[in-house]
Amino acid sequence: MTQYQIAVVVGSLRKASLNRKLADAMAKMAPPEFVFKQVDIGDLPLYNQDDDANQCEAVKRLKADILASQGLLFVTPEYNRSIPGVLKNAIDHASRPYGQSAWAGKPAGVLGVSIGAIGTALAQQHLRNILANLDVPTLGQPEAFIHAIEGFFDTDGNVNAGSKKFIQTWMDSYVAWVKKHAKQSA
Ligand code: FNR
Repeated sequence: MTQYQIAVVVGSLRKASLNRKLADAMAKMAPPEFVFKQVDIGDLPLYNQDDDANQCEAVKRLKADILASQGLLFVTPEYNRSIPGVLKNAIDHASRPYGQSAWAGKPAGVLGVSIGAIGTALAQQHLRNILANLDVPTLGQPEAFIHAIEGFFDTDGNVNAGSKKFIQTWMDSYVAWVKKHAKQSA
């Protein structure tokens, strides 16, 4: 059975992050051949183009994790109607030096959860712009703008019964998307 390693990028660093919780819950809804690994972005320095020729260990590790993957999953909050700076910082790091981006061609899905009513819609749209520039084929539909109402996660951290069907549909589409694009690049 072909294994698919997925590099999961969570756009929040806080311990109790709802988006990290969602990433954990999503990983349990994928088929067994999909293995999810959350990449560390919290120890990356601020991106500085002067360091392109001499990237630090944290950046090398991030790029290695992405290059070893067959797919990407971005699970991000919305900060001030865009993506968090920590996420953009990580994206910029792994896109350089010029011509040596780790992102290119990796199939991706984007989703996010917010306590706000628009459920990260604007952050996701900004992220889609960035991923298009990085030549990352990104699942278009279904979209998942998740509003974290009370009880969205059950006591075990799983998505509650009412939302499970929708989230499972998203995951099934994402799995098919990764398989389709991973084949093309094989
Ligand atoms: C937010 N939050 C927020 N929510 C939203 O729907 N739209 C927004 O533009 C913003 N802006 C924003 C800016 C900053 C600096 C913070 C700290 C928060 C609220 C945000 O969705 C909420 O805190 C989430 O719980 C953050 O995600 P994690 O950390 O739980 O994954």
